[in-house]
Amino acid sequence: MKDLFSKCSEEGGYFSYFRMRGDRYFAMPVLESPPGRIMQFQGKKMVQWIINDYLGLTSIPEIKEAAIEAAKRWGVYSPMGARILSGNTEYHVKLEKMLSEHADKEDAALFNYGYMGVQGTTHALIGKDDVIVIDKLSHASMMDAAFATRQFIPFRHNDPESLERALKRARRLHEGGILIMIEGVYGMTGDIADLPPIVELKKKYGARIFMDDAHGHGTMGKGRGLGFHFGLQDEIDVYFGTFAKAYAAIGGFSAAPKDVCEYIRFNARSQVFAKSLPLVVVWTIIKTIEYLKAHPEQYDKLWENTNKLQNGLCEAGFSLGKTQSPVTPVMVPAEDFETGMKFLHKMRDEKHILISGVMYPVVPKGVFLARMIPTAAHTDEDIDITIKAFKEVRDELGLKWGERFEKTGHHHAI
Ligand SMILES: Cc1ncc(COP(=O)(O)O)c(C=O)c1O
Repeated sequence: MKDLFSKCSEEGGYFSYFRMRGDRYFAMPVLESPPGRIMQFQGKKMVQWIINDYLGLTSIPEIKEAAIEAAKRWGVYSPMGARILSGNTEYHVKLEKMLSEHADKEDAALFNYGYMGVQGTTHALIGKDDVIVIDKLSHASMMDAAFATRQFIPFRHNDPESLERALKRARRLHEGGILIMIEGVYGMTGDIADLPPIVELKKKYGARIFMDDAHGHGTMGKGRGLGFHFGLQDEIDVYFGTFAKAYAAIGGFSAAPKDVCEYIRFNARSQVFAKSLPLVVVWTIIKTIEYLKAHPEQYDKLWENTNKLQNGLCEAGFSLGKTQSPVTPVMVPAEDFETGMKFLHKMRDEKHILISGVMYPVVPKGVFLARMIPTAAHTDEDIDITIKAFKEVRDELGLKWGERFEKTGHHHAI
């Protein structure tokens, strides 16, 4: 018989490599300055590519001022209670209206976290006869939501033939409705959902689409997301976004027809039984949306920087996989895991450039990425010194990464 806690001092579990080494360099690094293009790590100021501040909003003083104003008015505690009882305000209602307009849906329902929103929305909608058909590369929040229903069929990432097989099976085995769960922009690899064939199949099999556009909301389709990018927003039955990335805040929302949002509001257990989103956050997001409407150049700058960084890395011989979004994954051969770590170490210690390594369970086993997020706040110089450092460290370590990946015809979304 083993003690419950014995696993905690043994190899195993997620990120065991780091846990067993007591690592705080790659895992849970302590960042010593507020978010921005330059951040301090272990006493050194570095150009960072690790936060999802796509639109550079962490550097906009007006937005910070809005949050300060809101904190003075409401503290961090308002409103008190769950939304259904004592936690609703005119600003929650107003923000939902703004989000529904932005997503071109009848309504939107707020959540405190994207993660909670995916659970809540999915569990509200999936009844005992229904089934989820889910892209295998979906974010953990979606996989967890699907696992919990126990009624799901996975399909190969972005593969319409595999999706059709899953839909046929779903129709054969289940009497109720089908929810196709996909991401808009896949947050680790940066490739985008192949919406046209997915929409065709949803119509053919009478299914509904839930699209988690955590990384596409604010960054694609002029900021309105991947549905707009394809001109297919009407076909996304539930459009999901988080505020934790491009909007530089916290929380999430499901945008959908009115009756569906109302049903979600009353049935999403992760939100019904939790305190409401704080007003500091609600108010700041309202001001953020107003700011972005008046400043479309933030979006243009994001893409200018994205193209400059991605073209520069490709020209230098690195492979960026299939990204079509600002997410910039530099592909590292899996067998070079230790060398990949050394590479990131040298980039930090010698070049003062902060990049994250991404591995299982965030991405499938055998994949290792040096993942970068360009933002509207980065400068030309930041990009130039980063690309130069990439080349120098690669040559110092004698790495041949680019040659080990097939050239994927990397091209840009705009
Ligand atoms: C695709 C996707 N969905 C959901 C989430 C969770 O969002 P949040 O951080 O708002 O809980 C994330 C964040 O990592 C994400 O990338």
